[in-house]
Amino acid sequence: MTASSASSSQSVAKNTDATDMPRHIGIIMDGNGRWATRHGLPRAVGHERGVEALRRTVKAAQKLNLDYLTVYSFSTENWRRPVSEVSALFGLLKTFVKQDLARLKREGVRISVFGTRAGLPDDILELLDKAVNDTRDNSAFNLGIAFNYGGREEIARAVRELAVQVRAGDMDAADITEDMLSSALDTHQYPDPDLIIRTGEEHRLSNFLVWQAAYAELLFMDVLWPDFGEAELVAAMETFSSRERRFGGLKSGAA
Ligand code: FPP
Repeated sequence: MTASSASSSQSVAKNTDATDMPRHIGIIMDGNGRWATRHGLPRAVGHERGVEALRRTVKAAQKLNLDYLTVYSFSTENWRRPVSEVSALFGLLKTFVKQDLARLKREGVRISVFGTRAGLPDDILELLDKAVNDTRDNSAFNLGIAFNYGGREEIARAVRELAVQVRAGDMDAADITEDMLSSALDTHQYPDPDLIIRTGEEHRLSNFLVWQAAYAELLFMDVLWPDFGEAELVAAMETFSSRERRFGGLKSGAA
């Protein structure tokens, strides 16, 4: 880390008004493959470096007093990739949980997993369950792992759950509110993200937290995910704090 990024991180951590700070950041960790190609390496190495970037980012997020970080690790669309790449990504998740879970638990990190269980192999499901169960009493920091996740799939599942309650006569369809739908989503224990960062030069949400991101600030950064770290997170938080969020209202001071 450079001297300027170190002093910058201190200014974000200490000097910024708490209301200017995001509580929940979501990250679309894009660019692993291109990073590898540009370095003349196999794509799998890009994903490995992506896990290292994830470790750095979680550490930085804890240091910067963020409460919630949700990372897009495997999307429902990622099944379209070659089988070898899908199994490399599953392998990295296994390694991450095996190598990092004990430390994250000690550090007070609570892990949540968002996404559908459908189609995931049993060993992955067991590891994800273990990560959630072993950290469920922690509260210092919340790490959401979106794995086998698609925002539309999550909404459809939530709607099915509400429909079952309507059919059982537990409520009237006309009484369904936005809050009820939010409560039926995988992310129901998280506040909506204040800021969504996407690395890697593309400018879209790609089915990440589509309901929850309704009022999120969006930040597209050219850096490829394996090169992301504390300095980039600090820069993103500074950009966030310089933006004015109006939630459909008026600019402050406007009549
Ligand atoms: C996008 O890069 C990244 C992914 C599809 C996976 C992200 C996964 C990790 C960072 C590591 C695994 C996570 C855990 C929790 C262990 P890309 O392959 O689409 O890059 P490209 O667009 O340059 O090809």
